[in-house]
Amino acid sequence: MSEHTALITGITGQDGFYLSRHLLNQGYCVHGIRRRSNSFPAPRPEPVGADAAAAAQVHHHIGDLLDPIGLRRIISNVQPTEVYNLAAQSHVQTSFEDPIYTATVVAMGTLNLLEAIRDYRDASGREVKFYQASSSEMFGKASETPQSESTPFRPRNPYACAKVHAYWQTVNYREAYGLFACNGILYNHESPRRGENYVTRKITRAAARIKLGLQERLVLGNLDAERDWGFAGDYVLAMWQMLQQAAPDDYVVATGRTHSVRDLLNGAFGLLGLDWHDYVCIDERLLRPVEPTRLCGDASRARRQLGWQPRVSFATLVHMMVEADLAAAEREQTLLAAGYTA
Ligand code: NAP
Ligand code: GDD
Repeated sequence: MSEHTALITGITGQDGFYLSRHLLNQGYCVHGIRRRSNSFPAPRPEPVGADAAAAAQVHHHIGDLLDPIGLRRIISNVQPTEVYNLAAQSHVQTSFEDPIYTATVVAMGTLNLLEAIRDYRDASGREVKFYQASSSEMFGKASETPQSESTPFRPRNPYACAKVHAYWQTVNYREAYGLFACNGILYNHESPRRGENYVTRKITRAAARIKLGLQERLVLGNLDAERDWGFAGDYVLAMWQMLQQAAPDDYVVATGRTHSVRDLLNGAFGLLGLDWHDYVCIDERLLRPVEPTRLCGDASRARRQLGWQPRVSFATLVHMMVEADLAAAEREQTLLAAGYTA
């Protein structure tokens, strides 16, 4: 039996996938919490081949951050040495439409988990390390660029406000109860497993489907928005590294470079020999009431203390995502040709 047992909330999400693969490679016994049902799932590709084999090694538990009793039961059964809290209503635009639900899951859900861990640790005498998925969105209307661990938070949407709550709860459990608890303040990270309603994947998927004649137009919001985009596979390494340090701390994880939505469009459509101007239209309903100021991270502490650095460039990331979406579009086309409809 492995001496390292990880419990991941949000196992069905993008980061849950990459983190579980990394921990399995490190010899961990990996457990994940998934919801029994979800009325509004973010479509993500099913794992195939080696990915499916890895996913099959994860022990799944039905649970919800909103069910504190269930969380306690899972923790005392699993006896984790590390808990990674990745679960969230993580879509910013949705948080404007559904602020109370978002705040309940992100803020109170994290508190439910922290309480369950504290009680388990106190009752069992076993140390449990805790990772909280904090977000660059917490900087919001940032007073400086790039942002570091010392930049004040000024959140600009319900999701970010709730993440600030969860951040400070995590710090408080470290300081008040001596829990080994870390915040990873991660900037946008993407992959072929990104949900289809985030801008990167929305663009790469649309470009591929337009190329194959499966889609005619792409409707977007703010094309001037800029983000510091990295690869999710790189970022989960930082999560794990934080919990391997001698002492807990909080870390910004970012590439330090920003690109605009237009850059994304140029990259994705350009790879397929298409001009995005011919296909993209703007729908004002996709504009957000407010946007953060230029989010660009200074990951010096992570580089210095964790030895972490991003390996995948923006161009390679876009290439990787377009390639995966082109393969998915080709499968879709084959199924359509064979008479299958969604
Ligand atoms: P994601 O793909 O949206 O995954 C979110 C996960 O949370 C899904 O597995 C979802 O389950 C689960 N979940 C939602 N509500 C839940 C609840 N009430 N109880 C239990 N599970 C619940 O997000 P991600 O991109 O992997 O991000 C992981 C975490 O990092 C999130 O907390 C996000 O806010 C944070 N973060 C992400 C980024 C980024 O750029 N990706 C940057 C900074 C911070 P279903 O499959 O059932 O929906
Ligand atoms: N989703 C989306 N859809 N965004 C669009 C669109 C569109 O059609 N058109 C333009 N955008 C712009 C948004 O206005 C935003 O400025 C930018 O593209 C990125 O949007 P998202 O991909 O939805 O990501 P996000 O930055 O709001 O949030 C993601 O990153 C955060 C870290 O900074 C999420 O993963 C959050 O959970 C995460 O905390």
